[in-house]
Amino acid sequence: MKNRLASLFPIILVLIALLAAACETPPEAPPEPTYSDEVIAEGQSLYSQTCSACHGPDAKGVPNLGKDLTTSQFLAERSDEEMHAFVLEGRPSGDPLNSTGIDMPPRGGNPALTDDGIFAIVAYLRSIQISE
Ligand code: HEC
Repeated sequence: MKNRLASLFPIILVLIALLAAACETPPEAPPEPTYSDEVIAEGQSLYSQTCSACHGPDAKGVPNLGKDLTTSQFLAERSDEEMHAFVLEGRPSGDPLNSTGIDMPPRGGNPALTDDGIFAIVAYLRSIQISE
């Protein structure tokens, strides 16, 4: 028995060393996307032109129109690409996710809104999101 333990000893040492190493290097967190002030300002300007009529000038929502976007879990849980796809499509009243019975038009009803413009709006909205 004593012999067996002794032969396990180097293995245990290696395991302890590995564990210690694993504890020292924290798991790599995915980098938070960062947006330049220019992009956010551009997004704010496009937001007021295209989205504010329904979602309000400060994105706090308008009763019987667009929802509050500053507290939107939907936005918080989605990637930029997913938000881009959402804005392209909008959300018709028939959509299972629609909770107001009111249509959100594709591209917020602005056919001139470009892909870059949509990403800038998403950046702006993320900059004003209130996390709970
Ligand atoms: C004509 C009104 C209108 C315009 C313009 C509009 N929306 Fe909406 N939007 C809505 C409505 C209504 C909803 C809620 C639909 C529902 O009941 O789920 C909505 C929902 C959303 C949601 C989902 C929120 C959530 O928590 O589920 C996002 C994000 C959003 N809009 C972003 C935008 C952006 C960005 C623009 C501008 C490009 C925009 N909207 C323009 C009416 C509008």
